[in-house]
Amino acid sequence: MDKLISTIGLALLLGSVALPGTAEERPRSGEESWYLFCEGCHRPDAEGPGAVMLQRRYGDERMAIKGSTTLAPEYITHVVRNGLLEMAPLRPTDITDAELDLLIDFLATPANPVD
Ligand code: HEC
Repeated sequence: MDKLISTIGLALLLGSVALPGTAEERPRSGEESWYLFCEGCHRPDAEGPGAVMLQRRYGDERMAIKGSTTLAPEYITHVVRNGLLEMAPLRPTDITDAELDLLIDFLATPANPVD
């Protein structure tokens, strides 16, 4: 048992094993990409530095990117691929073009009240 645990520990450390339930499926869904790459900064409350910055700069209506009806897909793509001031860009190895499209579709769905 100890051997098994240390084997799992080592494999996890090397990032080389997919445990049940954590197996990576590509393409990632829009929701997965949101929680993986965006939600930490863009959760629409005081805990989201991206949201806070957007609120300060443009006002309440532009605080949340999730559920926004005014952000054009081309603009979101541009910001994600090139970054914007304090927001770092993501490369196609981080999020593929297909995954980015899924993410943009997800962003266009209304914000979940518990988000
Ligand atoms: C490290 C924090 C951080 C992460 C992670 C992050 N952002 Fe941002 N994002 C920001 C900040 C800060 C701004 C505001 C930039 C500015 O104007 O200073 C911003 C701005 C934006 C804007 C512009 C919104 C507008 O109204 O002009 C879009 C679109 C955007 N982010 C999308 C995303 C997406 C999609 C993801 C995930 C793939 C993401 N961001 C991940 C911090 C982040």
